[in-house]
Amino acid sequence: MKQLTCTTLALAILPFVTSLGLFCPPTGPVLPPPVLLDANGFDVGPLTDALTKLVNDPDAPFNATINSFSLTITTLEDDIFQYHHTAPKKSEAGVSVVDGDTIYRIASVTKLFTTLSLLLQDGLDIDDFVWQHVPELAGLKKFEDITLRMLASHLSGVIRDGYNSEIAPRAPPEVLSSLGFPNVTLPQDYPTCDSIGTAKCSRAEFISGITREDLVWLPGNTPTYSNYAFVLLGYAVEAATGNSLQDVIAESIVQPLGMSAVSGLQIPEDPSKIIIPDEGDVWATQDFNNWKATGGLFTTPNDLSRFLRGIMNHELLTRAQTSAWLKPAAFTASPTGATGMPWGILRPNNLKRASGTRPLEIYTMLGGFPNYGAYVGIIPEYQLGITVNYAGPGDDPLSRTLLDMAVQHVIPVFDDLARVQASETYVGSYNPGVDGGNSSLVLALDDGPGLKIAEWTSEGTSVSEAWLALFGGSIGMVDVDMRIYPVGEDERWQVGFQGIPDRDVPGIFETSCDGWFNFNAFRYAGLPGDVVHFVIDGNGIAIEAQVPGLRQNLTRV
Ligand SMILES: *[C@@H]1O[C@H](CO)[C@@H](O)[C@H](O)[C@H]1NC(C)=O
Ligand SMILES: *[C@@H]1O[C@H](CO)[C@@H](O)[C@H](O)[C@H]1NC(C)=O
Ligand SMILES: *[C@@H]1O[C@H](CO)[C@@H](O)[C@H](O)[C@H]1NC(C)=O
Ligand SMILES: *[C@@H]1O[C@H](CO)[C@@H](O)[C@H](O)[C@H]1NC(C)=O
Repeated sequence: MKQLTCTTLALAILPFVTSLGLFCPPTGPVLPPPVLLDANGFDVGPLTDALTKLVNDPDAPFNATINSFSLTITTLEDDIFQYHHTAPKKSEAGVSVVDGDTIYRIASVTKLFTTLSLLLQDGLDIDDFVWQHVPELAGLKKFEDITLRMLASHLSGVIRDGYNSEIAPRAPPEVLSSLGFPNVTLPQDYPTCDSIGTAKCSRAEFISGITREDLVWLPGNTPTYSNYAFVLLGYAVEAATGNSLQDVIAESIVQPLGMSAVSGLQIPEDPSKIIIPDEGDVWATQDFNNWKATGGLFTTPNDLSRFLRGIMNHELLTRAQTSAWLKPAAFTASPTGATGMPWGILRPNNLKRASGTRPLEIYTMLGGFPNYGAYVGIIPEYQLGITVNYAGPGDDPLSRTLLDMAVQHVIPVFDDLARVQASETYVGSYNPGVDGGNSSLVLALDDGPGLKIAEWTSEGTSVSEAWLALFGGSIGMVDVDMRIYPVGEDERWQVGFQGIPDRDVPGIFETSCDGWFNFNAFRYAGLPGDVVHFVIDGNGIAIEAQVPGLRQNLTRV
């Protein structure tokens, strides 16, 4: 019977070390996110110097003479970094010097606002079909399965830009002919509205652009970027609220977060507050008409940073909704990339951090059209937000360069800071009181994630041996690596037991991480044995560690 119980337990546990020796921590913070003790806690010098060097570098991936830009980094509390560059060559119609209150267009970063405004409407279910809110699509077979969630997650298969990316009207026939396009004219009824210098499309014309085309991919199948998808979401928000998307964004996002009134879909009355690149006037105040919901928003670096703090502090959505929103919806072809709703998710695993090599999750949104672009990133592990804005022809190389520089500079600093603070607060030995028995817990900081359990005994016996005896034997574990990770509430931490096998894990399991499968399996007499509660004193220092399942209340020595 005892044997049977052990076997049953063992079968329920997967080996979760990889043969590459990778750690398998939970995603998100592996230590409490660091707290900057004062406004000067982040040394802005190195990143400022690097950006100044970039601006003066003739080999930079953009031309600083004609591109203005802003970069901000924020914690949950406030910005810890801002850098603004004003291009010497720009339009006199706009601002003369760029700062945190300068108005930029943010192109497709608008999609974050449209998606959030949808998530915030109580009466609107994200799993509704689009045709329930956009009646023109009702009864059309190809739209029957498409939900609002699919549209917001790049999974609807809806066409990208439709007639708006039509090449024929954009270049003279000679040029097109020299590029190998056959001599064919646009069909008579083909809409050319909603473009620079053309009339506004009626909603009917706009919808005709989508209903005449096949889907790019089948609904729910694989991510494909679509501006049309977000216009439809804008229509859905308007139908559900009876308000314009402009008003919904103002009332449900901009005002509650205390962003300035210039942020939103309305075209600024005073262009002198906008940064306008040389030859960029037409794009600075162009009315996006139907395309507003996908790329029409104006905002400032200060406001955009405030917006990210609003998300990270879950001021509009609840904490659980925010956590669920900052998750992937689909994979891309890259093992280090995914798409979300509507996030583009980067998971670089090549960043140097004292806590080891493992993926860093960055939830991003990229935007760009001629002469303007933006890039925002949220890094849940360290609770940091980054904003990039530019005005000029710099395009993606500019925004990518700036986001990369911000991440490369800030993450190692915050990783170190989290480790220093966790070390001061928790690292050390915890023992029972004078007559308390033979239990102990020793927490250390090593070159892996979380806090390493260097030693752990219960009633004189090693906990790792108990774990191996109960869970490790039948699956070939010869050792176990034990770490603790903060839950994010009440000083409660979760133990990760990571079995170490006696041989390489073969084939398709070489890089798999099954840590998530095994939490909360180590229980004893009604209480979890893989949870550690800390008692913190008035100075913020842990004085006791409690393990409910093992009935351990251990005092820090
Ligand atoms: C940058 O733009 C300026 C102004 O158009 C131009 O004179 C200069 O040659 C450009 N620099 C480079 C490296 O392309
Ligand atoms: C293209 O076709 C039109 C008529 O279909 C003709 O008038 C025109 O000359 C052609 N252009 C070229 C460059 O062949
Ligand atoms: C601690 O363990 C030792 C050795 O196993 C044993 O002799 C001793 O009685 C134990 N002390 C308590 C308080 O359990
Ligand atoms: C540990 O302390 C908690 C309260 O802090 C108490 O509820 C619990 O009974 C204690 N456990 C043991 C084994 O002393």
